[in-house]
Amino acid sequence: MLQKLQQLQSTVLEHLPSISTEDALVEYKNSILGKTGELTLILKWLKDLSPEERSTVGKAANDIRDILTEAFDAEKNRIKNEVIAARLQSEWEDMTVPLAQKSGSLHPMTQVRLDVEDTFTRMGFDIYESMEVTTEYLNFDAVNVPKTHPARDMQDTFWLEGDGNVLATQTSCMQNLIMRAKDTPIRAIIPGRVFRNEDVDATHDNTFYQVEWIVVDKWIGISHLKFTITTMLSDIFGKEVTIRMRPGYFPFVEPGVEVDFSCPFCDGDGCRICKGSGWIEFMGAGLIHPHVIREGGLDPEVYSGFAFGFGLNRLVMIRYGIPDMRYFMSPDVRFLRQF
Ligand code: DAH
Repeated sequence: MLQKLQQLQSTVLEHLPSISTEDALVEYKNSILGKTGELTLILKWLKDLSPEERSTVGKAANDIRDILTEAFDAEKNRIKNEVIAARLQSEWEDMTVPLAQKSGSLHPMTQVRLDVEDTFTRMGFDIYESMEVTTEYLNFDAVNVPKTHPARDMQDTFWLEGDGNVLATQTSCMQNLIMRAKDTPIRAIIPGRVFRNEDVDATHDNTFYQVEWIVVDKWIGISHLKFTITTMLSDIFGKEVTIRMRPGYFPFVEPGVEVDFSCPFCDGDGCRICKGSGWIEFMGAGLIHPHVIREGGLDPEVYSGFAFGFGLNRLVMIRYGIPDMRYFMSPDVRFLRQF
């Protein structure tokens, strides 16, 4: 019996260090010291022994129970410490390291505007910021928009209180100011925010961005216009883009043209972006109307020029495949983080 007890003690003490969880330890402890545990069963047999044997074996059994109880407690502490050490290891953080900086990024609209500005500065253009509040005169009269033109109507223009003040509906409102303020040759690009009283949907917003550009000098013709547009678009899309012109009416130009460019995504074969036509309708342009040149303080017999204007929102949508214009003004960072 004594031998059996001794054996039990050494088996248990040998096995204990291999236990790694508290649950397993509790289970093992029950199987030895619990109500039906091995040691408990041995102790039950004590009553069958002679009184002498009972006292030696009983004493040994009690000693072993104490030793094992102590060993189980010690293992419990070991396991607890191991768990804490593992957590410290895995959750450890060096609080002295500076937090990783999540840097913001430029709005896609700003990125494309900067690209456009870059192309034009390389071609010798000056950059002017457009006005957001302007006058009826600059927005309409000075660029030859007739008094009866529907664009002046309440539906399109936000009229402000006061003497003929409006929110700019087009960056063309800067043409007159620039012609008056600058000496020829004039080469200017004018990005700006414009406003129209429109119903908002996926392709229209009441607030959007345009880029205008004007060139005024002697002997300016349609070929300069063509070169400038082609250069800008090829730069923006990083590949050669061709353009085509269709007659179009804008009061500030004569002749006026609508400019389409070859779809840079399918190279003219037809795809989803160009709706199968191979061309993307893009902007209005033309040779500056003599009335506008004269109103700008220059002699149209001597000077000519070209002007064009496009919606920056649309260019950005095409470049990045953005399906809905309303994303631009929404404060959703999931949209912004993509750029
Ligand atoms: N201002 C025109 C618009 O908002 C765009 C435009 C067309 C500008 C022709 C021009 C131009 O300079 O020549 O729709």
